[in-house]
Amino acid sequence: MPMRHSVTKVVIPAAGLGTRFLPATKALPKEMLPVVDKPAIQYVVEEAVRVGLPDVLFVTGRNKNALENHFDRATELEAILMRKGDEERLQRVSESSVLANVHYVRQGDPLGLGHAVLRAKAHVGDNSFAVLLGDDLIDPRDTLLERMLQVHDQRDTCVVALMEVDAAQAHLYGIATVEPTDEDDVVRVRGLVEKPEPGSAPSNLAIVGRYVLKPEIFRVLEGTAPGRGGEIQLTDALLTMAEDDAAGGVHGVVFRGRRYDTGDKLDYIKANVMLACEREDLGPGLREWLREHVLEMERQPEVGLAT
Ligand code: G1P
Repeated sequence: MPMRHSVTKVVIPAAGLGTRFLPATKALPKEMLPVVDKPAIQYVVEEAVRVGLPDVLFVTGRNKNALENHFDRATELEAILMRKGDEERLQRVSESSVLANVHYVRQGDPLGLGHAVLRAKAHVGDNSFAVLLGDDLIDPRDTLLERMLQVHDQRDTCVVALMEVDAAQAHLYGIATVEPTDEDDVVRVRGLVEKPEPGSAPSNLAIVGRYVLKPEIFRVLEGTAPGRGGEIQLTDALLTMAEDDAAGGVHGVVFRGRRYDTGDKLDYIKANVMLACEREDLGPGLREWLREHVLEMERQPEVGLAT
């Protein structure tokens, strides 16, 4: 049973152009790229539902019709499968349409993650809420979001997910400076910088795409000037919140579990391989092939290029 907590709504920004995956994302939203056999975004919605948060608001942009269709009924396809008596496929087609209570708002101008979150204000109202970024998949066996909701409820604070990253990767993330608390996996956030210049990161603790935010963030976002890349950055608004003790500040949950980054091409391929290796239907065959393929590449390094 998912635990009960004060947060009931989830916001998933999904207005990005997916330029890193062109041409695959020319006509297909990047959120719809498959990870094994499900669109990446479905894993994220499943994560929200697993912790008891089925109210999901997508902040979308143009060309996101495929995403909306995916979380809707596909009546023609369902009727064909039903006539054929193909219960298994019918179940797979319909599960995403009954998974969550899905809502949509358009971002309009692509002015940054902070701007996308601000677009959720009318739907969320005066309540705390969770923000889940579609590029980060958290392994279903890990309970990161649940822990973040618990910390929010216990400490009445905004919570970000933090992970140690290689120093060479720090410029790709929001980076936090922190102080310890009385709990091993919880830190108090003292400083935040969005995508620091290479070599200048103040730590190696990076924000990964999970946030639990108090509604005060909307007021702060409204007054946040464009930052890195000329965009309104959620990280900058969170820095303002971190400096405001009266508003409860910002805490971080340090995640030491399994995260798959589907926003980067190489990591996206790794995520597919890792998750497929664990599947009962695909794992045995894939693992066997991988072992043979690696041995072959060691014997003849150019083989990997040809196959
Ligand atoms: C966003 C945030 C960044 C965070 C990252 C996590 O950046 O702005 O602070 O570290 O997500 O994935 P993006 O990767 O969308 O550019």
